[in-house]
Amino acid sequence: MEKKRSTFTGKVGFVLAAAGSAVGLGNIWRFPYLAAKYGGGIFLLVYILLAVTFGFSLMVAEIALGRKTRLSAIGAFSSLSRRFSFLGYLASAVPVIILPYYCVIGGWVMKYLAGFVTGSSAAMAGDAYFNTYIGGTWEPVGWFLLFMGITAVIVLLGVEKGIEKVSKFMMPVLIVLILGIAVYTICTMDGALDGVVYYLRPDFSKFSVMTVVAAMGQMFYSMSLSMGIMITFGSYMKRDIRVEKSAKQIELFDTGVAFLAGLMIIPAVFAFSGGDEAALGQGPGLMFVTLPKIFASMPAGGIIGAAFFLMVLFAALTSAISLMETIVSIFLDKLAMTRKAACLLVFGICTALGLLSCLGYSVWSGVRIIGMQILDLFDFLSNSVCMPLVAFATCLFVGYVIKPQTLIAEIEKSGPFREKRLFCVMVKYVAPVFTLLILLSSVLDVLGIVKI
Ligand code: PHE
Repeated sequence: MEKKRSTFTGKVGFVLAAAGSAVGLGNIWRFPYLAAKYGGGIFLLVYILLAVTFGFSLMVAEIALGRKTRLSAIGAFSSLSRRFSFLGYLASAVPVIILPYYCVIGGWVMKYLAGFVTGSSAAMAGDAYFNTYIGGTWEPVGWFLLFMGITAVIVLLGVEKGIEKVSKFMMPVLIVLILGIAVYTICTMDGALDGVVYYLRPDFSKFSVMTVVAAMGQMFYSMSLSMGIMITFGSYMKRDIRVEKSAKQIELFDTGVAFLAGLMIIPAVFAFSGGDEAALGQGPGLMFVTLPKIFASMPAGGIIGAAFFLMVLFAALTSAISLMETIVSIFLDKLAMTRKAACLLVFGICTALGLLSCLGYSVWSGVRIIGMQILDLFDFLSNSVCMPLVAFATCLFVGYVIKPQTLIAEIEKSGPFREKRLFCVMVKYVAPVFTLLILLSSVLDVLGIVKI
């Protein structure tokens, strides 16, 4: 492939770029609804424990693999072991599953932004608004295509850098807005404090295997792990930048944003539902149903709502761009085609898959595959099947084929690696056993063979 790979400049460049890809709808839309559904504090605790042990080790391994080989996932695995080239392909399939439905949610964000800009904030706060909207046939399809079209044009023109610059400015604004909304809700709404307690105090009676399944899938998704992305990022990383320190910073930032998003949404759910458990289990619609209600009750809520959804849109766009860029570059590497043709092909594939997710709420709302909505099915396939599988195989690959020492030596080129014992134990023993158990239990659960 390339003889000399371009590298990120500056120490913060790498972390910022990786954090830009990591922070997205996963943090703001997905984390809060999972935390609400799977027991609040206990989910948060399991998530953090996983992030600092398993997530950290996997992120370090992926970045180091990329930096060592200077190749993206497919090339990185096959250059170190022919037998493991399948793993590069498997990891690369994950963004193809995620991107289409990611764009469907991106479309929802655009619709809500447009709603706030055109002054329909009161209507959006209504109980049935969200379901009526996604149940409509063509409007969600239109917004989905618009979001994906914008992503594709940016990738096609190669102007990601411009977007990333804007988003570096938007990200702090987003964080301030999330904090402000959380403080407003907690301080002014009756019942919100119960939500804070639910979110922060682990209730061990709510623990189940599903808590771990959900937390692990979310960790992969949110930190862009197990899909080859961090390998690609690592391949652009200079040798004088500390791998383990960067991994810690990305994790801290990503988890911090997710934590705040939960603090913004869960207390509000309590306040509006009076602590009704059913409201906590709503799933993907949670953010879209809850936030407009907060904005409707706030002074200048229309403007704040518009600003909020604009920032979320940028965070979602940077993530969608990095997902699409990954798929396009795989096609460019593997099939002899022009960038334009690759972009068009990706656009075509994602339109087909995204339409399935979109229409799964309207025309095909009766369709259930292994008991799931179509969007939920894609989400399940990527987060609970493919990613644990990739993580499992990556651990075997690092632990037993190339051996942890190979990557430790790569990491130590830029300084001491204090967590190397944790790293070895994780990739060799804990993570493979753990991912395999989780994978089996989630699949058997869905197939109805065991109930967990
Ligand atoms: N991590 C992103 C999020 O939280 C999603 C994503 C996954 C982006 C993979 C890029 C690559 O929204």
